[in-house]
Amino acid sequence: MATAGGSLPRARHWCNIRPIPSKMPRMTLRTLSPLDRLLVDAQNALDTVFGAPPAQRPNPAASEADVVLDEAERRHAAGLMRINHVGEVCAQALYVGQAAVARDPATRADLLRAAAEETDHLAWCAQRLAELDSRPSLLNPLWYAGSYAIGLAAGLRGDGWNLGFVVETERQVEAHLDEHLQTLPEADLRSRQILRTMKADEARHADNAEQAGARILPQPVPAIMAAASKLMKAVAYRL
Ligand SMILES: [Fe+2]
Ligand SMILES: [Fe+2]
Repeated sequence: MATAGGSLPRARHWCNIRPIPSKMPRMTLRTLSPLDRLLVDAQNALDTVFGAPPAQRPNPAASEADVVLDEAERRHAAGLMRINHVGEVCAQALYVGQAAVARDPATRADLLRAAAEETDHLAWCAQRLAELDSRPSLLNPLWYAGSYAIGLAAGLRGDGWNLGFVVETERQVEAHLDEHLQTLPEADLRSRQILRTMKADEARHADNAEQAGARILPQPVPAIMAAASKLMKAVAYRL
């Protein structure tokens, strides 16, 4: 449970996932100078927006048939998967921004581990977009920059707020993925399987951040976050 005032004893790792693979140069947990960190963050931004960071886990859609959709279904599924891809671009930027100013090194390490797991989501959404003959959002540099700034602002409030921001973000994403699971074409089994796996990961991220001592964000912060997300979804569906 998150707490409004104090915090619960900190779990050893709120993001209880595998360690960052050694072959993954995008994130590192060794002690870095501020300039090193800036360069690592810049590299992550470029990789996320212009590159194709590889997933470390198998694509969950691999076991599902790639059913041929009619044109209207394909366009709708592509619009929804573009939104989800933008969401993962934003997740990268938020976590990296939050980690940049996290006070506790353990919190910083956990945020970077979470970003590594979100990289799988980013790669799976990009793969599905390509399968649907579509493309990522043209505004990804803008989404990344805005989310990084929001991540910095959240992180500067302290680690309790930082973790609270993780909880609120992940809960909103979870609800949004539920919506997409209801509106995706029934036949789009591959997108559905990706979203189901993402939803389970996001729920775990939120649960673990709560157990690590997240504070409950006061209104109007959650309402502003929801409004920003609604605007992003409306634009990213087309652009
Ligand atoms: Fe994600
Ligand atoms: Fe997440």
